[in-house]
Amino acid sequence: MKKNILITGGAGFIGSHVVRLFVNKYPEYNIVNLDKLTYAGNLANLKDIESKPNYSFVKADIADLDEMRRIIKEHKITGIIHLAAESHVDRSIKDPFTFARTNVMGTLALLQAAKEYWESLPEKYDGKLFYHISTDEVYGALELTNPEGIESPFTTTASSSEHHLAFGTEFFLETTKYNPHSPYSASKASSDHFVRAYHDTYGMPTLVTNCSNNYGPYQFPEKLIPLFINNIRNRKPLPVYGKGENVRDWLFVEDHARAIDLIFHKGKVADTYNIGGFNEWKNIDLIKVIIKTVDRLLGNPEGYSDELITYVTDRAGHDLRYAIDSRKLQKELGWEPSLQFEEGIEKTVRWYLDNQEWMDNITSGDYERYYTDMYQNR
Ligand code: NAD
Ligand code: TYD
Repeated sequence: MKKNILITGGAGFIGSHVVRLFVNKYPEYNIVNLDKLTYAGNLANLKDIESKPNYSFVKADIADLDEMRRIIKEHKITGIIHLAAESHVDRSIKDPFTFARTNVMGTLALLQAAKEYWESLPEKYDGKLFYHISTDEVYGALELTNPEGIESPFTTTASSSEHHLAFGTEFFLETTKYNPHSPYSASKASSDHFVRAYHDTYGMPTLVTNCSNNYGPYQFPEKLIPLFINNIRNRKPLPVYGKGENVRDWLFVEDHARAIDLIFHKGKVADTYNIGGFNEWKNIDLIKVIIKTVDRLLGNPEGYSDELITYVTDRAGHDLRYAIDSRKLQKELGWEPSLQFEEGIEKTVRWYLDNQEWMDNITSGDYERYYTDMYQNR
């Protein structure tokens, strides 16, 4: 069967990497990128593939049920990879309603539209898949029982890194109970439940994956890594929330896109897979690596930008530690992160420094005002 695949949120950070991978790897598929182009959506992320014959773009809001019905029918969609979402925790604290509208109601509208179209076909759900991309943040926060870090119990081909630490003995498993704390993670948890409910109630073939923090090219500079790279370059303060003790598990975005490709094609329907980098970092240690890398690549003396570190009021409800156990995906489908963190961060810093125009286009105007206001109000 010819595959007509709808990728939502394809103009965003992770979505653009997924669209690029699918358009280049599967010339026999039709890839439809559906995106509302919010502040976080940027078609410049897809310049290199926009004229490919198997790619098309539709500007639409996933919360518009009639539009979702029309688009899914018009493009005879057989598979959906759903990434469109409001994705920034700090924004969700200021404006939780937008998160409920897009992440919960939007996901529901997309599910309903797909259900109606697929049930109208003679072959119904055969060969179809609704694949929902979610986050590890739905599981809540883990204890930080080893603040200095201990040798991680996990090994991967990418773990030859000198820094291969775990900051606690517990990890998120696919069976870990949901316990979201921020409006962002609460809205993602709710959408995950709706996706599973459409499988359990209507028999729709669905699949959910929960991934750790991604980093890499094309990430909107409100998130830690691109924000700090840009601020170092512009000699602006680096706002470290609280004491910088919080721990995140970082994965290079192209490794996430490869996992999505593998799971879309080989994953078990109705199943859940955790995706993570086996790569925990305390924020302050990560920030020091970023500073060192940017200074080196800009030709600054070592330690030149350390003075930009500025401790600010902590994020409300700031989750202490995220750490994913993705051994199920490793064991069942053979996926592993391909990049060592040091390589990934070097690649990422180089990309932002080499693509200053992309950054300047995004950070001028509205975003500059939003960021200045948010920073001053901390
Ligand atoms: P992003 O904010 O960079 O991109 C989101 C995209 O969705 C943007 O292009 C935006 O225009 C679009 N969008 C927003 N609201 C929409 C609406 N109502 N209708 C249509 N399009 C809309 O986000 P990202 O970091 O690329 O995250 C993508 C997905 O992956 C999200 O579902 C997020 O929850 C999940 N995720 C992200 C991370 C991470 O570290 N960034 C980790 C795990 C999971
Ligand atoms: P972020 O990139 O917003 O991702 P998430 O909140 O989804 O994990 O933040 C990553 C970590 O960095 C998180 O612990 C919050 C912290 N942080 C700062 O200390 N300063 C900042 O300016 C930002 C944006 C984040």
